[in-house]
Amino acid sequence: MKKYLVIGNPIEHSLSPKLHNYWIKINKINAVFEKKKINENEIKDLIFDVKEGKIGGFNVTIPFKQKVIPFLDELTEKAKKTQSVNTIYLGNRGTVGDNTDVDGFKSSLKNEYDVKNKNIFILGAGGVVPSIIFALKDMGAKNIMISNRTQEKAENLKKIFNNIKIVDWGKIPNFDMIINATSIGLNIKDEIKLDFSKIKNKFFYDIIYNPSETNFLKVGKTSGNKTLNGKLMFIYQAYYAFSIWHNLSPKIDDGVIKLLNND
Ligand code: ATR
Repeated sequence: MKKYLVIGNPIEHSLSPKLHNYWIKINKINAVFEKKKINENEIKDLIFDVKEGKIGGFNVTIPFKQKVIPFLDELTEKAKKTQSVNTIYLGNRGTVGDNTDVDGFKSSLKNEYDVKNKNIFILGAGGVVPSIIFALKDMGAKNIMISNRTQEKAENLKKIFNNIKIVDWGKIPNFDMIINATSIGLNIKDEIKLDFSKIKNKFFYDIIYNPSETNFLKVGKTSGNKTLNGKLMFIYQAYYAFSIWHNLSPKIDDGVIKLLNND
């Protein structure tokens, strides 16, 4: 039986095992997917286990998406450009670090919103933001503006992606779409200290999917904006990882959507 993992710290709340094991069962694959809380010094051995075939592959989440890079034999273009790896597998020439967050984000918008020529405002500059910027640029967004409490982190992103704009934390520029990529909202009571109540007919996207409606989305919706949470992005990044490891595209049906409804 092949073993797959998601590694991170913390990892207790990860829903990846639920989703992957559901698809493993439906497709009658002889495998199991587990979550593993690790320390940084365990990364090297885990990647070696992939090389040896002891582990089929693994997903990487906070705070290791960048930290795994030095131990891998190869990076895909997306992983290289974003300096962010969320999916590891054994390729023909050794271990490969890939990034399925980029396509996960793109696919989540498929039937929801066209970002072409739009002004996009991103709150946060953490682990997932390089993947979002990469995807937005690829989809033809006009302007990408970033605001982060720690401005230095936003400045670092500007070094990788030229022509993004930095907005002071606390200011709200004109935008068509706003993305919450901070961790504010993971706790149901969390509130972003910005006043969005006068904004309408825009698109509010929260990367958080649990809780399914953060205060950010609640305010956005009540003020008359379209909203979307991070559930589809989460499902699609898993979908692409599953396709890489098992060489088949799993179904995204109502069963999958229901599986992740836990609030
Ligand atoms: P990491 O920063 O380790 O990559 P993350 O969960 O990917 O972790 O990112 C958390 C994001 O939420 C960061 O942009 C963080 O801002 P800082 O860079 O200033 O830490 C943001 N964030 C978390 N709590 C916040 C708060 N109370 N107010 C403003 N921003 C916050």
